[in-house]
Amino acid sequence: MQRPLKIGDVGIDFPAGLGALAGYSDWPFRVLCRRFGAGFAVAEVLLDRFVMSVTKGSKAGRFIRVDDEDHPCGAQLMGDDPALFAQAAQTLAARGFDWIDLNFACPVRKVLGKCRGGWFLGHPSEALHVVAVVRDALPPEMPLTLKLRRGLDDTQAAEEHFHRIVEGAWNLGVTAMTVHPRTVLQRYQGTADWEFLARLRFRRPDRVILGSGDLHSPQLACRMAEETGVDGLWIARGAVGYPWFFAELRAVLDGRPLPPPPSIFEQRRVLEEHFSLAVAAYGPDRAVSVMRNFAFQYAKIHPQGEAVRQSLVQLKSRSDWDDLLRIWYGVDLPGLRKPPPIPSDISCDSAKAADVSG
Ligand SMILES: Cc1cc2nc3c(=O)[nH]c(=O)nc-3n(C[C@H](O)[C@H](O)[C@H](O)COP(=O)(O)O)c2cc1C
Repeated sequence: MQRPLKIGDVGIDFPAGLGALAGYSDWPFRVLCRRFGAGFAVAEVLLDRFVMSVTKGSKAGRFIRVDDEDHPCGAQLMGDDPALFAQAAQTLAARGFDWIDLNFACPVRKVLGKCRGGWFLGHPSEALHVVAVVRDALPPEMPLTLKLRRGLDDTQAAEEHFHRIVEGAWNLGVTAMTVHPRTVLQRYQGTADWEFLARLRFRRPDRVILGSGDLHSPQLACRMAEETGVDGLWIARGAVGYPWFFAELRAVLDGRPLPPPPSIFEQRRVLEEHFSLAVAAYGPDRAVSVMRNFAFQYAKIHPQGEAVRQSLVQLKSRSDWDDLLRIWYGVDLPGLRKPPPIPSDISCDSAKAADVSG
């Protein structure tokens, strides 16, 4: 990447980070990815009205937690009401997040039906109104960023809407944008159109643009940087259950050899570390169900992954968790490289967070 990544005045020491992932980019996983070298992280998408409903000391407060080990960190908002968007943005800024990101990308049907997420890509005036109101409500030094797909669909009108939003948003003071160059209609089918990103970069060499889409390996991440010229990389599915991604990407970008895939003992060490972070965030009982979800993803790099997944189906308690580690992670073996995801593999949507958050 040509220049150091900065989001407003927020300096970022490595231009790749953990992107927003509903159900995954929670505080424990963000901290874990940073320990492996992620340069930034973005928390799971939050519904504006959910943020406003969180009271001091409530359990839901863990969704808007950010602490010393978790910077720089963006908070992402989804909503349909400009005034609520603005209030929620102020709350998240006051909580200590380093920037506020607006989600104009989510392709989930239920979300679109409520005029949220990717719906805005088909409604440039409404999108720009939200941007203006939120920008106005935030302290001037707090960066505002956008997450976009490349349009609602493949029509000329959709591309025109996209550029109207992008140009309008720069003019309103948006600091950076992350673009996932699939259409909303495409959801996770087909491939991300990296040439679209390259054209966008060419049109706007002066602006901060991050790229997302099909960054399934450190090599692909390097290729996106080279082929598109984006300033930063928003790593998503490639890092789920694979926090080693960031250490590997640092090696590849430095011209060092790619380290071997994590051995079973290394996987066990990281599962234990992740579990401890989850206990700190959720308490011992809920940590088990949160980690069960992640463990399905970690199992993809286990040589007996299918058997591990079978035993996860029954996992309910802390002692089941200890048994899992003892049985499947008790003998050291070489691990596997993470395979690319298939669209039905992990629920590819932001609905989970939207549901959690009412
Ligand atoms: C399970 C899941 C949850 C996601 N949650 C969010 C989210 O909360 N906010 C967001 O902007 N994008 C979300 N995304 C989209 C990703 O951040 C990313 O843009 C997309 O997966 C493309 O990158 P990839 O192909 O490298 O995974 C989610 C994707 C998945 C698969």
